[in-house]
Amino acid sequence: MLQGKSISFSYKEFDNVKELDQSDLELLNSAILIAANAYAPYSQFKVGAALRLESGEIVTGTNVENAAFPSGICAERSALSNASSNYPGDKPVALAIAAFSGKGLTPEPVSPCGNCRQVIAEEEYRNRMKIRIILGGKRKIRIIEKGGDLLPLQFNNDTLKIIPQ
Ligand code: THU
Repeated sequence: MLQGKSISFSYKEFDNVKELDQSDLELLNSAILIAANAYAPYSQFKVGAALRLESGEIVTGTNVENAAFPSGICAERSALSNASSNYPGDKPVALAIAAFSGKGLTPEPVSPCGNCRQVIAEEEYRNRMKIRIILGGKRKIRIIEKGGDLLPLQFNNDTLKIIPQ
């Protein structure tokens, strides 16, 4: 029998950074600062990501592009790989993202791409912990309490376990 279903999630939106709490603001500022180090000669779109770990440590990353386009990496995965490699066991609790086009910080917040959503979801799954996503734009800041909400009906290790052997 056909059943109509729906999935929804809530998020917060702010129009002023002053409304953020101190820790989120610090993280967003780290993402904004590190974006200057992006290597984005092909898109001119410089993205910075800053991860807050359970210990309080901040780990950053930028997009690093490549002439062979698919070989480039996004800022979010750059930061997540950095944290996993250098701070094993220190679980990410929040991730801030900011992007600069030729005209400066984007007016609207930039959301992670599909590949990055999948990697954020894996990190949440692996640690059994939510990652707060803080998306910073010039006019607007969005906070999503759980990265996995950006990837409904996700493919993860539970899915693999149900594949018949
Ligand atoms: N990019 C990121 O680093 N993160 C995002 O969330 C969206 C896209 C990068 C990939 C590429 O280097 C450039 O932005 C343009 O797509």
